[in-house]
Amino acid sequence: MESNAKLAVVIMAAGKGTRLKSSRPKVLHEIGGKPLLDCVIAAASKVVAPADIYVVVGHQAERVKAAVAATGVQFVEQAEQLGTGHAIQCAREAIAGYENILVLSGDVPLIRPETIERLWQFHEAQQAAMTILTATPADPTGYGRIVRAAPDSHPSDEDLSPGTPDSPEVEAIVEQKALTSAQQSIGEINSGIYVFRTAPLLAHLGQLTADNANREVILTDMAALLRSARQRVVAIGAADAAEVLGANTIAELVALDATLHAATADRLMAAGVTIFRPDTCVIDAEVEVAPDTVIEPFVQLLGRTRIGADCLIRSYTVIENCALGDNVLVRQSSVLAESTVADGAKIGPFAHLRPGSEIGECAHVGNFVETKKAKLGKGAKANHLTYLGDTEVGEGSNIGAGVITCNYDGVHKHVTRIGKDVFVGSDSTLVAPVAIEDGAYIGAGSCITKDVPAGAMAVARARQISKEGWVAAKRARQDAQK
Ligand code: UD1
Ligand code: CA
Repeated sequence: MESNAKLAVVIMAAGKGTRLKSSRPKVLHEIGGKPLLDCVIAAASKVVAPADIYVVVGHQAERVKAAVAATGVQFVEQAEQLGTGHAIQCAREAIAGYENILVLSGDVPLIRPETIERLWQFHEAQQAAMTILTATPADPTGYGRIVRAAPDSHPSDEDLSPGTPDSPEVEAIVEQKALTSAQQSIGEINSGIYVFRTAPLLAHLGQLTADNANREVILTDMAALLRSARQRVVAIGAADAAEVLGANTIAELVALDATLHAATADRLMAAGVTIFRPDTCVIDAEVEVAPDTVIEPFVQLLGRTRIGADCLIRSYTVIENCALGDNVLVRQSSVLAESTVADGAKIGPFAHLRPGSEIGECAHVGNFVETKKAKLGKGAKANHLTYLGDTEVGEGSNIGAGVITCNYDGVHKHVTRIGKDVFVGSDSTLVAPVAIEDGAYIGAGSCITKDVPAGAMAVARARQISKEGWVAAKRARQDAQK
């Protein structure tokens, strides 16, 4: 999207989030695996270029800036958080060059770009000084309420037919603390999302004070202020109230998280993915899954995970930032992180792929097998009770039960290189750095400390002794001593 001097976006994100009782700034709390502020920036970036997005930061400003710096947005500092009106006062210089500004709240994360566009177009069509996005949720408690203007109460209403019940004009926004008992019943709430024409906003911005029930410099007072200056203040309702709900408490955050996860599951199911009991699954917003894949109950697919077609992900598995090919089977209770799994591979049950694992086509990683920075070639198998760390396993090699790569000497990590078609017998330890060349055999129970040449058989264990008749002889000695 090209830079457009017509419209800048200001995202208010300086608040502490007192009601969360958290040491983390509110806008960095996550829903759907993504910080609230990232959700808002992503929506805003679909409407204007990041260079025209100004994020107001204050509480733990450096931490908030660092978290979203990669998006390319601009920042405005609000050193003391004196209220939402004060946040915009701090952005005065940043916004002066734009004809209009769209204000978003960093804690209203489900807002869709389509709704922002609709608000912006309505603002233009209405030639308003301030356009408020509103909603009518089931429970309006805590939100600012919209006091609509009586249709004939204002000279600028001349162009509206008298008595129009659905006048878009607004008299004021009244915060929860300032509601009169008559206003308690107003169901229409302020979403905290607005468009302002910059000139009248700047002309009156200095008039906002903390002389109100909130004892803060609040942006919501701008509605009545502009109205009394005979400027046009209008409101448009969001189609779905769920989209503009705020996250002020942990309970509200969790509710938004559930909404977002449900939406992601719906998106995937519409695209041909079967998700049994989607309410029990946690699938982050950016996850991609190809058609005909089946996801069993209680699965978590997190971060930027990508899963191919015709896979089966069985219950209690957690997959984070992984790429899986087609036809992959992940059996129950496996944990996969920052790893790749190629087509036709079988993982689990109870497998643990730690970061940097690359599981090749049709390879098997079975129960109680842990891998870390381990590359398994096509058809390689490690089926039982094994640790493979800093290891390469060539095509077709078989790693027996209980094999351990000893990759750590207490100071440094070392690499184990296993060639193609190698057979490593059960309960062997491979002390890295060490290489087992193609086609070699390792006898069970070996402790391998030296490289094994191609095609060789290595055995490194104490030789077995069987003493014939030893048990009977021992008993006879014991009997004689009685
Ligand atoms: C605000 C609105 C309320 C609306 C609700 C919608 C005000 C006074 N009230 O209430 O009418 O119904 O949002 O969700 O605006 N912030 C700053 N600097 C500050 C204070 C706040 O940047 O000095 C930021 C916060 O980080 C937050 C946003 O502004 O992202 C809104 O502030 P918050 O305190 O959550 O306002 P609400 O009480 O939810
Ligand atoms: Ca809020």
